[in-house]
Amino acid sequence: MLKETISTNSTTNVHDVYRITTSRSSKVVIEGVSLSALGAGLNYYLRNTCQVDISNVIQGSIVPWRYYMNVVTAGYSTVFWDWERWEREIDWMVLNGINMPLALTGQEYITRQMYLNLGLPLEEVSSYFVGAAFQPWNRMGNIQGSWGFKNDTGVKNAFIDSQFELQKKILQRMKAFGMTPILPSFQSFVPSALVQRFPNTTFHEATQWSGMPLEYTKVHYVDPQEPLFATLAEEFIKLQKQFYGENVTDHYILDLYNELLPASSDEQYLKSTTKAVVHALRKADKNAVWVMQSWFLTSTQFWTPGVTKSFFDGIREAEGKAFIIDLYSEGLPQWKHTDGFYGMDWGWSMINNFAGGQGIFGVLPTVLAEPFAGYHHSAKSMRGMGVTPDGINTNEFLYHLVYDIAWKDPNQPLSGKPLLDQFIQRRYGPKQTTPLMLEAWDQISKSLWNITGELTGKVKSYLDLNPKLDMVAYGFEPTVPMYDTAVVADAWKKLMRSTNGQEGGGAHTVVQQGLDELAQEASSLELTLGSKANNASPGLRFDIIDVTREVLLNTVLPALQKELVKGFNQTDVPRITLYGGLIEALILDTDRLLSTHTQFHLGKWLGYAKATAKNMKVTTGEQSITPASYLEFQARNQITWWGPASQGALADYASKHWAGLVKTYYLPRWQHFSKSLLQAARNGKAWDQDRFNAEVAALESKWQYGTWGQNKGETWGPSPQDDTVAVAQGIFRRWGKLAIKISQNKSA
Ligand SMILES: *[C@@H]1O[C@H](CO)[C@@H](O)[C@H](O)[C@H]1NC(C)=O
Ligand SMILES: *[C@@H]1O[C@H](CO)[C@@H](O)[C@H](O)[C@H]1NC(C)=O
Ligand SMILES: *[C@@H]1O[C@H](CO)[C@@H](O)[C@H](O)[C@H]1NC(C)=O
Ligand SMILES: *[C@@H]1O[C@H](CO)[C@@H](O)[C@H](O)[C@H]1NC(C)=O
Ligand SMILES: *[C@@H]1O[C@H](CO)[C@@H](O)[C@H](O)[C@H]1NC(C)=O
Ligand SMILES: *[C@@H]1O[C@H](CO)[C@@H](O)[C@H](O)[C@H]1NC(C)=O
Repeated sequence: MLKETISTNSTTNVHDVYRITTSRSSKVVIEGVSLSALGAGLNYYLRNTCQVDISNVIQGSIVPWRYYMNVVTAGYSTVFWDWERWEREIDWMVLNGINMPLALTGQEYITRQMYLNLGLPLEEVSSYFVGAAFQPWNRMGNIQGSWGFKNDTGVKNAFIDSQFELQKKILQRMKAFGMTPILPSFQSFVPSALVQRFPNTTFHEATQWSGMPLEYTKVHYVDPQEPLFATLAEEFIKLQKQFYGENVTDHYILDLYNELLPASSDEQYLKSTTKAVVHALRKADKNAVWVMQSWFLTSTQFWTPGVTKSFFDGIREAEGKAFIIDLYSEGLPQWKHTDGFYGMDWGWSMINNFAGGQGIFGVLPTVLAEPFAGYHHSAKSMRGMGVTPDGINTNEFLYHLVYDIAWKDPNQPLSGKPLLDQFIQRRYGPKQTTPLMLEAWDQISKSLWNITGELTGKVKSYLDLNPKLDMVAYGFEPTVPMYDTAVVADAWKKLMRSTNGQEGGGAHTVVQQGLDELAQEASSLELTLGSKANNASPGLRFDIIDVTREVLLNTVLPALQKELVKGFNQTDVPRITLYGGLIEALILDTDRLLSTHTQFHLGKWLGYAKATAKNMKVTTGEQSITPASYLEFQARNQITWWGPASQGALADYASKHWAGLVKTYYLPRWQHFSKSLLQAARNGKAWDQDRFNAEVAALESKWQYGTWGQNKGETWGPSPQDDTVAVAQGIFRRWGKLAIKISQNKSA
């Protein structure tokens, strides 16, 4: 009834609908045609109830599916979560109208059972599995085997068991909210032990992935045209149905070639391959929908138009049902050059985040306009919208926005400003939000959220990288900001002024001094805490940290590094000492600020790992590695080395601006850099980067196996006396003038 009301007088396809009405007796009634529509309706009510008259609102979604997460979110964000944390996330999903979340937790339990049923020994299956924090890349056939501990079979399996228990709860809750979870399927990748068991089956070896040492990569996969593929595909889904219930879903993710190239670019081969996959999936579940991420198509050298078309033709000719998640629509939209995936069902998606790294980053104008462009291109087949971040907890406004847009009229252009203003008012409190704050966010949205171009990755901060003389980098995740740093420094000033009751911040408006003079001044100023703003909401505190972090690390630090190197070039010892000292002070101040908010705390990440370890029972294999030390290594290794060795290809890829990590991992590298430059200058020696790297590797190696909380100052969260606003005010007093000067020099 509700749906008809809106469908009949709308030119738009309407899928889900909610209605909010207020009766005379002031009772609010929220109706929805589905539980996720009800969730979205409730959220609309909660958000707007204080601001506008919502006595009669009726909204329909332009897409039936609102999905969430990509395959690596499980590695970068959710890997150590407990049930309580999952519950909160699922609540958040409901309120955002999400009805098709990825649900890949505990996938290894199914995989393991499948191979054990085939007669492979546990030891052989286990040696195929990777460490807890790297499972997504094993699932995609990028890596196999684990590093860090010699014999981790016991803990690895115990973790898999714990995840299976979690998954049962997750699915039950998702189903209770009427969602259609996307479950995993057999993706073709197999343990090498299986290859010997089936001598008459064609297997291929995947390509070496991301410079990983060969023993951990080149994963075997069974050719999807082999009967064995169909057998395993069926077995996998059968086991899932047995463990989780018959009707959990009909949507299965299957990424054949994520960051891998197919065995052949022969069009006929690819067509037969996708046909075979459709048949196999259908045999396993007659309603199966093949869900895949479009990321593989970004390898455009391989995926030429003809090759790409034959891939999708195979699905069509087999009359398969598919749903393509266009993973990075805001930066590398694949729907455009494939004519909307040749008529397949697909969803517009914002990835926004890579490797769970922080950064105020996004492309707001694109997010506001492109979903509608996609919809107008393929109104019948653009059937989903979603956010598919590598990691969460950044750029919250943009995430909410995408799910809002799914309920907007695609014929009305959207303006970002009023939506952002409302968001900020909800986030900071309507009374606490000042015009200056809104101005700051307007500037941020026009600079940091307007970085366009193909690879619009966030700025990679110098802080997170192994120091060297020349750290300037462009391309994916450049170290050079792709925005006007003066605009952002000014936005920072506005945020600081609007949270400073006493001073009004006038001292920082005009900067006449030179850089060295300001640097001397900053070096002599200690961090003295500013005034508190005790009514600052958690959201405001988060943003203050985020903006301050952005300016300190991406405007100030690169300038200090450059001056330090200049000092070395000129064999100017006092200059090296000054700028080395400033870098250390800046990093310590940053750590201090980050330590005031749980979201920016290493203790939180490690704390989840520690809690999960408590729920693990080691029943097989070696007992000498405890779950706690295993998971702590996993947690530490992923955000630093991301692999078996220091300075490997992925080292520092998943770096974090987290209190604790900054102080105990990044700071020692930088201290060692300044010290080594000083020594070299004093001794008249040339710079030896290799030697420096080797020395740093020793420091890093020790850190990998550390136990948090054993050393002084290693806390699990903020202490009550740390006030974000007070610390940030102090930091602004110390670094504000210098930051503004540097940013103005750059943009001049
Ligand atoms: C559709 O018609 C109903 C009933 O007349 C009205 O309340 C509603 O606003 C209309 N919706 C649109 C999208 O025009
Ligand atoms: C493989 O094929 C050969 C030749 O047809 C046959 O003799 C052998 O039994 C097959 N092996 C298996 C494991 O099926
Ligand atoms: C699953 O769904 C089918 C079709 O809707 C129904 O016939 C069957 O009873 C359901 N099975 C279970 C276990 O709920
Ligand atoms: C975003 O950047 C583009 C190109 O740099 C510019 O033309 C446009 O006006 C900017 N949009 C906003 C909202 O600032
Ligand atoms: C230091 O010297 C090198 C080599 O002469 C030069 O390429 C580089 O630009 C200099 N760096 C700075 C910051 O002066
Ligand atoms: C791992 O430990 C188990 C149990 O102690 C043992 O049986 C197995 O041989 C060990 N594997 C390796 C590779 O050392």
